Formats: sequence, C-alpha cells, structure tokens
Amino acid sequence: MTTTCSAPGKIYLFGEHAVVYGKRAIASAINLRTTATVSESDQTTISSILGTTGIDYMAHPYISRCIESLAVPPVSVRINSDIPVGSGLGSSAAAVIATLGALNVEFRLMMDSVMLADVGHRIERDVQGSASPTDTAVSTMGGTMLVNPGVSSSRLRMIECDIVIGDTEEFSSTKELVGNVRILHEDYPEVMDSIFDTIDNLSGIGTLLIEKGDYRSVGELMKIDHGLLDAIGVGSAKLSRLAYAARDAGAYGAKITGAGGGGCIVALVRGLGTYASGGGADAVASAINDAGGRAIITKASEDGVVVRETF
Ligand code: MEV
Repeated sequence: MTTTCSAPGKIYLFGEHAVVYGKRAIASAINLRTTATVSESDQTTISSILGTTGIDYMAHPYISRCIESLAVPPVSVRINSDIPVGSGLGSSAAAVIATLGALNVEFRLMMDSVMLADVGHRIERDVQGSASPTDTAVSTMGGTMLVNPGVSSSRLRMIECDIVIGDTEEFSSTKELVGNVRILHEDYPEVMDSIFDTIDNLSGIGTLLIEKGDYRSVGELMKIDHGLLDAIGVGSAKLSRLAYAARDAGAYGAKITGAGGGGCIVALVRGLGTYASGGGADAVASAINDAGGRAIITKASEDGVVVRETF
C-alpha cells in the first residue's frame, strides 16, 4: 500500500520564544504544505531535496526519529515541501506531522489527532533539545490556535485577511536561538520574565481582537511583539527592514515569525476589495521584495494534516 499525507506550515501572530517558558501563543496554519508519501518496502529509505538516505540522523533527523519512534516495518518515505527550510515557518513540524500521519494510515496505528500532535511534539523536542507544542499542534489541527502550554490548545476564529511573508533567505537555527534566549533568561531572569509576561498579555488581548476580526488592532500588537523579540536578541537588521517595509506599504502590522535570527517576518494585510485603495497584499509583497526579501502571499488554512491518497 502507499499513503500520502500533507500538513501545513504556520506563522506566529504572538508568543514565539515566550511559549517555551509556558506563556500563551497564537499561531495559524498557512497554505504552504509539506507532503509525505510512504509505502512498505524491503528496506527503509528517506528521500527529500537533501537526497536519499536510510535512517540517518545527520541528513534526516526528524523523519528518522518518526520511523524509529513508531517502530514500523521497513518503509520508504518521500518528502516534498513548499515550506522553506529553517525559515521559522514550521517546516520541520509539517514534515514530522505529514510523515506520522502517513505512517499512521499505512500501518493502521489508530492514533487520533491528539496522539499524533503529542508524538510529533516529542519528536521535535528530542531532535531540537527543546520545543513548545505550538508548531506540531497547529500543523495537526490547522486553523488559528491559542496554545497555552500544559493547559490547553483551542481553536480561534480563523484569520481572514491576507498574510504576506517576507523571507530574509537567511537560515535560522531554532535550537541555537532558543539556547541564546535561555542564556539571557539565566543572566537576567526578572527582565526576561517581565518581557515574557507582556508577550503573554499580547496573546490574551490578541485572542479577543481576533475573535472580533479587529485586524488593525491585532497589527498594532504585532508591532509591539516585534519590538520585544528584538529586545530578547532574536531580531536582525534585515528582519526589521522587511517588517518596516511591509508596514510602510500599508500592512496592519508586521513582525518576526518563529525563532528569528534570520528566517521570516509575517505581515497581516487587508484582503482585496476590503478597502478602496492601497496597502493590499501585492503592494506589501512588492515592498518586501524591494527591501531585499522574498515575499510569499498566503492565507490562513483551515486544514491541518490530511490524507491525500491511499492505494
Ligand atoms: C519556533 O518556531 C518557535 C519557538 O518559540 C520555539 C518553540 O516554540 O518550540 C522559538
């Protein structure tokens, strides 16, 4: 048998890094997806843009861990993705969840979506050293979610406006950035805790604004979050250049999304036809491109992990 599953990448509206310290975060699945095709085979192989290997923790750490942790028979896994790797858009979580989803169907493991997200989270934690449940929860469930680590994850009203991503095309290592923030937290716990508490408040107020569909105010809070992420050392000149270019072109707000360092910014933009003129996704995307980034226009996605085909 062969099974194909796909799972989405994500953007953070609020709460990256703070969520590692138990604070609330809001993230949304987006229309960029990773596909995993699995079939029983004589020997285990993993194929991706990085090449074809067996179980290999250097080339394919996440997929190797998926196969080993489910203890399935020899299998071939092929990964295709439109999510840029190491960009803060949840490429590793999408690959993990798509692979677990496909293995689940192929080998009739009967895991429900809560188990899938939980196994996925453990795999991300094992490979990266630390990881919040956000990326894997959003990639499994889809939609826009409020994640309150260790307490609950709940679905919010889905973001309805356009989303423009600005990719710096500079690789960012989540593990390294989370480690740098940890050192700052050890050195200045009171300062860092108060910043994380403020970010937690942004997620709390952001939840109410998203439910009302007040994206102008959500955008204002995103600008505050960008400043706080800069303050904890995960910003860069290029990330800020792209965020300011997006804001100047009329975005409601724009901020770092994901681990930072390099990677991407996310801008919320009013949808076509909502207002008479200016500031639409095309204008924001051109401004990001002119500022030296690579713009991607996308939308929030209702779908989490889905089985594409099985035969
Ligand atoms: C990375 O996408 C987001 C971080 O908050 C790490 C995590 O949540 O695991 C930086």
